[in-house]
Formats: sequence, structure tokens, C-alpha cells
Amino acid sequence: MSKHQVITGKVTLQKLQEKKRLGEKISMLTAYDYTMAKLIDTAGIDMILVGDSASNVMAGHKTTLPITIEQMIYHASCVVRAVKHAYVVVDMPFGSYQVSSEDAVRSAIRLIKETGADAVKLEGGDSYTQEAIARIISAGIPVVAHLGLRPQSVNSLGGYGLQGKSKEEAEQLLKEAQDLERIGASLLVLEKIPQSLGKEVSEKLAIPTIGIGAGADTDGQVLVLQDMLGLDNGFSPKFLRRFANLEEAVINAVGAYIEAVQSKDFPSENESY
Ligand code: KIV
Repeated sequence: MSKHQVITGKVTLQKLQEKKRLGEKISMLTAYDYTMAKLIDTAGIDMILVGDSASNVMAGHKTTLPITIEQMIYHASCVVRAVKHAYVVVDMPFGSYQVSSEDAVRSAIRLIKETGADAVKLEGGDSYTQEAIARIISAGIPVVAHLGLRPQSVNSLGGYGLQGKSKEEAEQLLKEAQDLERIGASLLVLEKIPQSLGKEVSEKLAIPTIGIGAGADTDGQVLVLQDMLGLDNGFSPKFLRRFANLEEAVINAVGAYIEAVQSKDFPSENESY
């Protein structure tokens, strides 16, 4: 278990809210499988996001658009089986909530019923998304909202650039954030926006904000696990800090294994029956 401040027992929305009140930062990482989820849960992470970034990280797609609800259910079920402590959020994939509010509630119910996750996350803050979020909340499912860079809208945003740069965009984002809080969103992810906007939104909302590329003033931080472990050094956005260099460690370990097999050093007498 981590030496750092760890919430005792299972993390709940109330405990996350209390962290914001006390000015304690919330830690969140993505996970998509049992083994990694068990490791980060043991380390004491507050929240685990089964992100639709699984589409990129697990399946090798260029965007998050192709991942299906069945695939999200598979990944989230694997994660939930491993977790004793963290609050688990599962992403609603592209196409599972945009068609109608009824469709959104049906998808959210499936994601919670078939995985055991604690909450769902969906992107956007326009009136259609707000209506879908309100319906999901009224079904008793906590919702994590997501503003700023919304990877499911990559084709209309024209790429993965910084959001909320102009005064008008920043005002619109703040308004949507306040609307989302008003209709009952439990937390808000803020992706790739200026630090000043991350600070303003976090100060004006009572619900916790979790930033990725949104500066140091959000109530918590989230990163994609494989990125922060340095498993793919080809991906280097400015906001990413690598806390390990596992790409090198894995390549070196596999190289040592190949060498040991080829030289007949492995298996030894002690490793044989
Ligand atoms: O899918 C994901 O990993 C995310 C995070 C980047 C916030 O939505």
C-alpha cells in the first residue's frame, strides 16, 4: 500500500467530495484489465477510469470512436473484479448516448448492471447531452461529465488541440460546467484547457474537477496508465509526465529472455521438474 494519504475503505462519492472540501487532491488513472487495475488499486489510487481510450491503448485504433459498448463492458468487468478500494468509472462509448436520452439511459444501465462499476462518464455539455445526463442520474446512476477536449468529437473539433482558448469558448465551457453541476453531475473531467480556465471552473463548482492537461488547480488529476508508466515513449503531449520508463524495461527484459532461451541458459536445473 502507498505511503501517501489514502482514503480508508472503499472510495465513495461522499469521500471524494470531502477531499475537495479539505483541499486534498484526488488521484485517478485509467485501467482496462485485471492485472493493472489490481496494481493501481493496491497502490491506493482514489479513482480508476475504464476509459474509451482503451480503443487506442488496448486495440490500437487511431481514435476512441470504434470501441463498442460490449468491449467497454468487457474491459470494465475485468477492472471491477480486481478493485477493492478505488471508485470505478466507466466511459460511455461513442454512439451509446448520442441518439436519444432513452438510448443513453439504456446504455448506462447496461454498463452498470453488467460491470459493477460505480459511475459512468460521458462527453459534452450541450442541451442534448444535459438531457441524457439528467435521465441517467434519475435512474440512480452517478455521472462524471467531461468538457474541454472531447476525443469522441475529434472530427468536428478538427483534432486534439487545446480547447477553451478564446474568451467566448472559455465562457461557454464555464456555463456548461455550471449547468452540468446544476443537473446533478457528480464530478467533472476537464481535458486540455488553459490552466487559468481549469482554476476558474474548479473554484466556481462545488463538485470535484479532475484535470488532464488542465493545470495544477483542478481538484484532481487523471492520466492514461500506459502513458504515465512510459510504456509508449512515442506519445509525448506537454501535459504528460512519465513516472517510469517501462518501455525500456519491457524491451530489455524480453531481450534478456530471448538471449537466455537461445543460449540454453533458461530453463536451468532449478527451473525444471
Ligand atoms: O478515455 C480516457 O482515457 C479519458 C481520459 C483521457 C480522461 O477520457
